[in-house]
Amino acid sequence: MSPIEPDPALVDAVRGARRVVVFSGAGMSAESGVPTFRDALSGLWERFDPAELATPQAWERDRELVWAWYEWRRALVRRVQPNAGHRAVADWALSTELAVVTQNVDDLHERAGSTVAAHLHGSLFAPRCSACGTPAHVDVHPDLAPVERLAPPLCAECRAPVRPGVVWFGEDLPPAAWSVAQDAVERCDLMVVVGTSGVVYPAAELPLRAVASGATVVEINPEPTDLTSAVTHSWRATAARALPALVASCRPEG
Ligand SMILES: NC(=O)c1ccc[n+]([C@@H]2O[C@H](COP(=O)([O-])OP(=O)(O)OC[C@H]3O[C@@H](n4cnc5c(N)ncnc54)[C@H](O)[C@@H]3O)[C@@H](O)[C@H]2O)c1
Ligand SMILES: [Zn+2]
Repeated sequence: MSPIEPDPALVDAVRGARRVVVFSGAGMSAESGVPTFRDALSGLWERFDPAELATPQAWERDRELVWAWYEWRRALVRRVQPNAGHRAVADWALSTELAVVTQNVDDLHERAGSTVAAHLHGSLFAPRCSACGTPAHVDVHPDLAPVERLAPPLCAECRAPVRPGVVWFGEDLPPAAWSVAQDAVERCDLMVVVGTSGVVYPAAELPLRAVASGATVVEINPEPTDLTSAVTHSWRATAARALPALVASCRPEG
């Protein structure tokens, strides 16, 4: 693959950034082999609409179906690796104040070495009791071969079913994560928005707030998005190709 270079105006805008927020969405993990929502539903799941599996209503209607879908996603994430984009973000934090704010429910930022400041939409790896909220330890189903139904385990404290530790459509964001994210965005002078379609609110407000507070906001996405017209620079490239180049250009000698 040929080297990729950010355009000079972008380099000028990002060089010398002191407080950075990396705001990531599903496209961040696409090159690791984690499907985005748009292409998540292949094979067994193609009859389903993610907006219908990732809701409290779906859980009430059919827990075994919802639990099986999340177990399949968890197993899939376990089998893939962070990509060069995740690694570039982790490297960057060694030399700059940097907060990772992610909408992703995978753990690829962490496995690349980043500390994640906020998982706005929770985590595949933090299941909890649907009634009392007690965190549950659930081993990852070792078998990627998806099954369409799987009974959720029961809470060790109260015997209610354990639910995925993710935020479903219609649920509130975890208040602590949301508040950490807002603080980081208010303080940053550069926000890099990568692999998000910018349609899921309130998360998608964050780039708009960064723009409003005068930060430089750079979008990395192979496709135009709902945020494109609002950001300072939009770079049509993928996370794994663009982030290493961007981080290299931000180094003082870069
Ligand atoms: N990996 C995950 O954790 C994961 C996967 C699927 C969905 N989700 C959930 O889906 C919700 C949907 O919002 P979203 O905006 O994160 O995802 P989305 O699926 O709505 O949008 C993904 C975006 O990534 C872009 N993209 C695709 N490949 C890319 C690449 N290689 N590099 C950079 N960008 C690329 C697409 O053009 C698109 O704009 C989120 O709340 C998230 O929690 C998470
Ligand atoms: Zn319980």
